[in-house]
Amino acid sequence: MKTKILICMGTSGLSAGAEKVESIFKSELKRHKLTDKCEIVRTGDRGLFRDVLVDIITPELGRVTYEYIKPSDVPELVEKHLVSGEPVKKLLAGKDYEQFFAGQMRIVLSNCGEIDPENIDDYLSHGGYSALKKVLGMAPEKVIEEIKKSGLRGRGGAGFPTGRKWELCRAVKSNEKYVICNADEGDPGAFMDRSVLEGDPHSVIEGMIIAGYAIGASHGYVYCRAEYPLAVQRINKAISQAKEKSLLGKSVLGSTFSFDIRIKEGAGAFVCGEETALIASIEGNRGMPRPRPPFPVEKGLWDKPTVINNVETLAAIRHLVTKGAGWFAAIGTEKSKGTKVFALAGKVKNTGLVEVPMGTTIRELIFGPGGGMVSKRLGLKAVQIGGPSGGCLPESLLDTPIDYESITQTGAIMGSGGMIVMDERACMVDMAKFFINFTVAESCGKCVPCRVGLKRMLEVIDAITEGKGREEHIKFLQEMSGTIKSTALCGLGNTAPNPVLTTLKYFRDEYEAHVKDRICPSHACSELLKYEVIESKCVKCGQCYKACPVDAIRWRKKEYAVIDKDKCIKCKACFNACEFMAIQ
Ligand SMILES: Cc1cc2nc3c(=O)[nH]c(=O)nc-3n(C[C@H](O)[C@H](O)[C@H](O)COP(=O)(O)O)c2cc1C
Ligand code: SF4
Ligand code: SF4
Ligand code: SF4
Repeated sequence: MKTKILICMGTSGLSAGAEKVESIFKSELKRHKLTDKCEIVRTGDRGLFRDVLVDIITPELGRVTYEYIKPSDVPELVEKHLVSGEPVKKLLAGKDYEQFFAGQMRIVLSNCGEIDPENIDDYLSHGGYSALKKVLGMAPEKVIEEIKKSGLRGRGGAGFPTGRKWELCRAVKSNEKYVICNADEGDPGAFMDRSVLEGDPHSVIEGMIIAGYAIGASHGYVYCRAEYPLAVQRINKAISQAKEKSLLGKSVLGSTFSFDIRIKEGAGAFVCGEETALIASIEGNRGMPRPRPPFPVEKGLWDKPTVINNVETLAAIRHLVTKGAGWFAAIGTEKSKGTKVFALAGKVKNTGLVEVPMGTTIRELIFGPGGGMVSKRLGLKAVQIGGPSGGCLPESLLDTPIDYESITQTGAIMGSGGMIVMDERACMVDMAKFFINFTVAESCGKCVPCRVGLKRMLEVIDAITEGKGREEHIKFLQEMSGTIKSTALCGLGNTAPNPVLTTLKYFRDEYEAHVKDRICPSHACSELLKYEVIESKCVKCGQCYKACPVDAIRWRKKEYAVIDKDKCIKCKACFNACEFMAIQ
């Protein structure tokens, strides 16, 4: 067996210098005459940011993972690990790395960081395209039955049953049908689809071919935002390789079924993730939603029946076909089957992509793979789930299981899987403002409730955070949210008020403090702040003094810090530096 050196080279690995690490590995292997004995595998990212992650797999030592690898570390790795057979202890991935992966169940992400996404043979040797081979021996109706039995629901946000969607599309008579892979991924902070496309593009292609076979389509499109150049490049390469092996194109694997895939690069508008807007965009029109029905399964791309599925949904297909619907259905909860990938961000130790079985609680996810809070002193205040269409949940709801129904009951939504953990220093009004700001900027402007209503909401929240709020503003936000939700034309408007509604529901006292007392309890809204040190909490550590950019803080060893309010420019650096909440 050849020694394998796996280097993570997704967008994250590459931006951290993975190519330089690879080139030094090459020259060092040459220098030690090890080139023939070792194989370097350029993999996608694993979802945990440890700059350049490198795994070395030898028969003697098995698999050893190294993190934060710099080009200058490589000569030592080669000399010690490969020549002397001794792991380099100081570079080993630590406990956080282990905890991050131990709490996960990786199905959709199983190949990410493991195989070379640009090498179809690597995919094939990991069981790739065996689901397609299996499916070609089944009747399309049977395939749909299997997907229905698995309980798979779309991972793009709404959680619509995938098998049912395929069944509806198959039932429509038409000379042409389409399969679209929705890789628009517009939610701020979400990057699970990009990671799958970069790390395991063939799994998405395999899912699309199977969908095409099941519904009777002969063409597919991958709609991917142009800001994902590496994903586009890898999916392009994967399509060419699949064609060469007759897995795509005329007579797939010698069968009577033909299927082709093209890529459409989107300009990166959030609304283009909405199915009807996405279809308009592929057709060459401005990406604006239209009323539904008719739904795309009846009248979609070029007015033909069309199935649109999310990247993660499609990537799951091969696994449930190979291992069986029963296997998949045994993972998760009664109504939410399988696993879900989350983009975990914010004040947790381990940020990145986490795949867990449905039904895992929010607490288990944050304190398991997430490794808990960054600071020992600052507690968890809220978790924002579901991106701009989601909501902010308080600490008291941390034991909510992650499944479509339970999350929806709280007022948030699963969405595409964004999860931001916030500590006591986060202001919930400011959080709501951030997302409304986003949806205002991304609204396509076609309908009045969304175009005008969201803007009015933003103006009101702005006023509240600037200390100009009035009590009737809170009532206005509540009422306007309801109106927009029920009257907007598409899902963007229907869900945009969720961050406001959930913060009003769970953190109303913060709105009231801003409006009635003109204070921001979390000290986030700069217009409302006058910084001062609370002596009873100050431990005289001097961190604030070091952080202040304008020397507005007086401090000496063993003395309390004092802020000179005339010099202070309200930059908040001292507040962020103080872990004792001694600055207010
Ligand atoms: C404003 C808006 C943006 C959306 N963005 C995405 C997206 O980026 N990716 C995605 O898969 N679905 C997105 N969706 C959901 C899709 O419209 C659609 O429901 C989904 O792609 C269906 O695939 P699924 O059944 O596999 O979830 C968005 C919906 C709305 C209303
Ligand atoms: S709800 Fe917003 S994004 Fe959707 S159609 Fe109306 S204006 Fe456009
Ligand atoms: S950082 Fe906080 S605890 Fe430390 S001196 Fe400043 S105010 Fe006091
Ligand atoms: S808010 Fe900024 S300028 Fe003011 S005291 Fe703190 S660090 Fe200094």
